[in-house]
Amino acid sequence: MTGPAAPPAEQAVVSVIGCGYLGAVHAAALAKLGNLVIGVETDPERLMGLANGKAPFFEPGLDEMLAETLASGRLSFTADIAAAADATIHFICVGTPQTAGHPAADLTYLEAAFERLLTVIKPGDVVAGKSTVPVGTAPELAERLTAACPEATLLWNPEFLREGHAIDDTMRPDRVVVGSAPGAAADRALAVLRELYAPITADCPLIEVDFATAELVKVAANAFLATKISFINAMADLCEVAGADVVKLADALGHDDRIGRKFLNAGLGFGGGCLPKDIRAFMHRAMELGADQPLLFLREVDAINLRRRDKVVRMVREWLGDALVGRRIAVLGAAFKPDSDDIRDSPALAVAESLHLLGADVRVTDPRAIESARKQSPALSYVASPQEAAEDAEAVLLLTEWAEFRELEPSRFGEFVASRRILDARNCLDGAAWRKAGWEYRCLGRAVEG
Ligand code: UGA
Repeated sequence: MTGPAAPPAEQAVVSVIGCGYLGAVHAAALAKLGNLVIGVETDPERLMGLANGKAPFFEPGLDEMLAETLASGRLSFTADIAAAADATIHFICVGTPQTAGHPAADLTYLEAAFERLLTVIKPGDVVAGKSTVPVGTAPELAERLTAACPEATLLWNPEFLREGHAIDDTMRPDRVVVGSAPGAAADRALAVLRELYAPITADCPLIEVDFATAELVKVAANAFLATKISFINAMADLCEVAGADVVKLADALGHDDRIGRKFLNAGLGFGGGCLPKDIRAFMHRAMELGADQPLLFLREVDAINLRRRDKVVRMVREWLGDALVGRRIAVLGAAFKPDSDDIRDSPALAVAESLHLLGADVRVTDPRAIESARKQSPALSYVASPQEAAEDAEAVLLLTEWAEFRELEPSRFGEFVASRRILDARNCLDGAAWRKAGWEYRCLGRAVEG
């Protein structure tokens, strides 16, 4: 463990443009490190929450960090880009979601933020892009920045934080990557960022590269993680036909340092606002560059992942029979992963929706994501606890591995259901204990008796 970070030698004045997931955490972290930070956010609801120390999403520890840094006077939020004129370092942190109905990244927010930023930029300023972008975006923005203000410099500084671990990933990252164009102006800008990040790079490498490499590190990292998950999920299917156990397989593989155990948890697959859209945007960009062939494998990574959702629906139908109309099914989990209230491309919610469309009486519960899930899928029934979800259910599906669900006591929980059937789609329960308590227990990629 590293100790608390030392404040920077001199207080930098920083603006953070776009205070969604990435920006809110980045702004609070830089203020915590002793800098003066101006967060610029155009969404009125989000802005109001942030100004009152309330993050617009659930992230462990973030509300406390916001409250502390707001109270210190080092952090403020505004909708007015003019306030960013006081800063000499500007971080662009807006989202680049998937374009509706198309695999490419939607750069509308980036475009708008950049244009607004150009109105306040002054000589000597450093602009650091953190948003995930298609390779080739940064040089184009750098040209426009130089045209607007010849003595301002663009750097590209991708972000690798995970939801649920965002503060730790920001304060104690594995690495910091900064991309730049060659030249003296970039050297000066790099020195500015090096100093700003000095408290966190004391314990991790700061890797300085060209623009294209910086842009690619981010999408390549997410593509690799997605591939690792789909690889183990493909192995899970093999384990089922061969009578092997994918959890033990992953453990044995993971002992090899070259492979590692992380991101080898087989189950319902990946979702969220990053991995799925990033691999699609990456494939699309490669195609634009005339290099689609090297990334064709990502199509299969995507397909393997989406098949996990169909597989779980199929397992339920095999279990309960095709006539699902009116059959009560308890769904534990709506968030795309635990410790998050994010339901973007959530595998859990996708399964719940499919079963609902088949006529099942689906009751969904989640410790944090009910509100956001209800907005996206209003037709589903939501309840506050696993016990309420399980009431009279003919099957329980564990789709997001929250600690609350992993710790359920099988005998007591069994009193609520109509039939003791549980599908552990995240392979996170002690199957033997559940079977001992009279449950028919099923999971993915493990040859266990039902
Ligand atoms: C991901 C990356 O992990 C971050 O490094 C990156 O900065 C971020 O995207 C981003 O691009 O901003 P995140 O989307 O928060 O972070 O979620 P992950 O922890 O990567 O999990 C993604 C999905 O994979 C979840 O649905 C999770 O349940 C699933 N997963 C993860 C598995 O199915 N198996 C595993 O072994 C691990």
